[in-house]
Amino acid sequence: MDSSTSKPESIAAQALGWVDERTRAITPAIHVSTTFLRDEDNQYRSGRVYARADNPAFDQAQAVIAQLENGADAALFASGMAAATAVFQALAPGDHVLAPRVMYWSLRNWLMNFATQWGLEVELVDMTDPAAVQAAIRPGTTRLVWIETPANPLWTITDIAATAAIARAAGALVAVDSTVATPVFTRPLDLGADIVMHAATKYLNGHSDLLAGVLVTRDNNDFWQRVKAIRAQLGATLGSFEAWLLLRGMRTLFPRVDWACRSAQSLAERLAAHPMVTEVLYPGLPSFAGHAVSLKQMTGGFGGMLSVRIKGGERAAIATAARVALWKRATSLGGVESLIEHRASIEGPGTPCPPDLLRLSVGVEDSGDLFDDLDQALRRADNA
Ligand SMILES: Cc1ncc(COP(=O)(O)O)c(C=O)c1O
Repeated sequence: MDSSTSKPESIAAQALGWVDERTRAITPAIHVSTTFLRDEDNQYRSGRVYARADNPAFDQAQAVIAQLENGADAALFASGMAAATAVFQALAPGDHVLAPRVMYWSLRNWLMNFATQWGLEVELVDMTDPAAVQAAIRPGTTRLVWIETPANPLWTITDIAATAAIARAAGALVAVDSTVATPVFTRPLDLGADIVMHAATKYLNGHSDLLAGVLVTRDNNDFWQRVKAIRAQLGATLGSFEAWLLLRGMRTLFPRVDWACRSAQSLAERLAAHPMVTEVLYPGLPSFAGHAVSLKQMTGGFGGMLSVRIKGGERAAIATAARVALWKRATSLGGVESLIEHRASIEGPGTPCPPDLLRLSVGVEDSGDLFDDLDQALRRADNA
């Protein structure tokens, strides 16, 4: 069976089933060469010149992600931020961009403080409301609509198909930060997006041991060529070892994410009934505002990220995070170990994140152990 026609689980587990023809190795070698031999007639028929532009160490990981996202091509970057900012850097001064009010804080900061200085007109909208997007979009001037769904750290859900239809009618591209959904649960290109972005640092790698980003395009068009030129020329290029580690991490993407998601669902339900928790933010809960849309566009689960708001406010939230033993008190998400974070502390002024919120990244530990640890921390924080 041609592995490119297999189910996504099989594609990921076997990394498309590539075998090194020379050695018969079933895992790839790590190519570290920064430069490539020119042909005698001065041509570069291999298509490779210099490793800032491209590197054989990327081929398999890019092919796997492109296949999982049903895209035409993929490009690895040195971090999620490098991937995301390359999309905006491919725009021109004066272009109008719509971005969500609730989104990954570091990218929002970059958009408001740097992208605007370079002449992009960035407008933040309530991306969960198609009517607000319709009202803000400027046909012919809006060049890009940036979506993040579920969006950090409130896990708000944007209807990708509805938003993409509005953008397309106005002549704008749509890019989706699908880091939290992963290709396990959502395929934005199939829903009308033009580009998908992942902080591969998170679930795609899954082991909290590398920084990486990736973009996947639906079409190999001029905009995509600009994005690839930006990677080659600005040099936010991933290292060879990191690309190899990422490929290894992706082989277990489906079982890791599936396990984490089932634990997150169980934790969300149990925490919703906890006397110290005032609200659980998780797309898998029927009471959550984005639940109906996530049922429509997320297949098989709602992800491994949730947030809880703690009775007693900021003080109790910080005290709870201080008292966990199994959860690790750290930023980031998507690794095999569960992380807890008082999110407003890291986002700083201007954040839409409430001060009583703890962000939980659920790993692959036993979900009963995770609940028990949170439960004892919540109860002790109540008495603190
Ligand atoms: C949703 C999301 N997008 C983008 C990023 C940026 O990724 P990186 O830290 O690899 O630059 C992050 C990092 O936390 C993220 O959570």
